[in-house]
Amino acid sequence: MARRKKIYEGKAKILYEGPEPGTIVQYFKDDATAFNAEKRDVIEGKGVLNNRLSEFFMTGLGTVGVPTHFLKRLNMREQLVRQVEIIPLEIIVRNLAAGTMAKRLGLEEGEALPRPIVEYCLKDDKLGDPLVSEEHIFAFGWASQQDLDDMVALALRVNDFMSGLMYGVGIKLVDFKIEVGRLWDGDFQRLIVADEISPDSCRLWDIETGQKLDKDVFRRDLGNLADAYTEVARRLGVLPANA
Ligand code: C5P
Repeated sequence: MARRKKIYEGKAKILYEGPEPGTIVQYFKDDATAFNAEKRDVIEGKGVLNNRLSEFFMTGLGTVGVPTHFLKRLNMREQLVRQVEIIPLEIIVRNLAAGTMAKRLGLEEGEALPRPIVEYCLKDDKLGDPLVSEEHIFAFGWASQQDLDDMVALALRVNDFMSGLMYGVGIKLVDFKIEVGRLWDGDFQRLIVADEISPDSCRLWDIETGQKLDKDVFRRDLGNLADAYTEVARRLGVLPANA
């Protein structure tokens, strides 16, 4: 059998050319990185968990009319997705103060925010994905006003869906990041949710105990990352209760 063509290898995933034009195979690795890859480890089983969880979230988003790149899961570590042109921005939505925002603005972690707050970062590993403003985005042509409006609308719909889903299993969605891709249909373009949605890209806190069930477990050495992700998957019914 011919080897597949690797298109791109990132910190947590590898992308291969898909079987049909316009498709890509997204392979989830066990590698965990933080602080722009200064801290790294291999967490056995993380890729399998994120493949299943991202499938679950993206499929759920599809059922409420939020377009995503997800087509189908192929196996334990791979899913088939639509090939898109990734817009070079990370869209972050925050419901509670945490992480870089708490630090930057001198807020208490867990402090309620007056409303969900959207932030933009430039996707650039070398620069550590810096926070950017709308002025930067338009002046440097990373996205148009229409693109940004559509991206924010998508991100807020993801927030509503994911917050409700998590609340139902006793978890607070503190914040998360999405990436958005451009899909061309002749001269028309559509923006859809791309990349992954998983505990690698969200902050998830147990409502009762405040226990962290996301990548902060790795970033801050709070315990076993795969156990935390398994707990999220179990509660959502993605894995059997005794997994
Ligand atoms: O680190 P920070 O507080 O800015 O992260 C906000 C949210 O975005 C967190 O849920 C984090 O996991 C996610 N994020 C991400 N990838 C990045 C930066 C942040 O998934 N490059």
